[in-house]
Amino acid sequence: MNSPIVKEKLIRKGAEANLYYGNWFGNEAIFKHRVPKKYRLEELDKRIRTKRTLNEARALIKVKNYGLNCPQVYEIDVESSSIVMKYIKGEKLKDILDQMDESKKIKLFKKIGIFIAKLHENGHVHGDITTSNMIITDNDELFLIDFGLHDYSDSIEDKSVDLHLFKRVLISSHGTHYEMCYAAFLKGYKEEYSKAQVDESTSIIKNIAVIETRGRYVKKEDRL
Ligand SMILES: Nc1ncnc2c1ncn2[C@@H]1O[C@H](COP(=O)(O)OP(=O)(O)O)[C@@H](O)[C@H]1O
Ligand SMILES: [Mg+2]
Repeated sequence: MNSPIVKEKLIRKGAEANLYYGNWFGNEAIFKHRVPKKYRLEELDKRIRTKRTLNEARALIKVKNYGLNCPQVYEIDVESSSIVMKYIKGEKLKDILDQMDESKKIKLFKKIGIFIAKLHENGHVHGDITTSNMIITDNDELFLIDFGLHDYSDSIEDKSVDLHLFKRVLISSHGTHYEMCYAAFLKGYKEEYSKAQVDESTSIIKNIAVIETRGRYVKKEDRL
């Protein structure tokens, strides 16, 4: 009998994890396998991989409840530090953003803002909000992936660091579309946050400028 779990092909060899496309009991699946690091003591390495695997899997399971799309977790295998999750068929936003028409972009970035606000207002930071960690399906649905750097936080600083990273990604990878996309993103973020019990969005967004000033200050120091 054929095995119900098949890893068909390696799709990405990352610094921390290898990702395989395959099949899990008849479902197209992604296997995210955290690989051992030779430079770490074996026992410590195992503990780190277990912790990160569980943290990512728990985040994926939990944040779904807030009404944002992310891959469904099929199985967690602590022994091999692997998460098996639903394969989301689509394109990475990074690869298709530049060809999208304006109105589609505005709608999409507003949606991204809504998704990130849903995370933040519920005490989660994603940790790696980039256009590589978003998949757009054929029917234009947005999925957030890669909760490997996810953390729990209620701090305004942590949430603005999350937004600041995304802003920098937009400027560096999608410079020509940056202003329109970023404005739509903030609009969605603020609108969603205004529905929360405590609307901290103004403070969070204001703090991005503070982080940027700090960045410039450090750079100036480097030049001296
Ligand atoms: N559930 C998924 N469905 C489809 N593709 C995925 C899925 N999860 C990951 N990928 C693909 O694998 C790549 C790497 O996965 P990711 O979780 O972002 O790990 P990394 O930490 O290496 O960035 C993604 O950019 C995406 O192309
Ligand atoms: Mg990623």
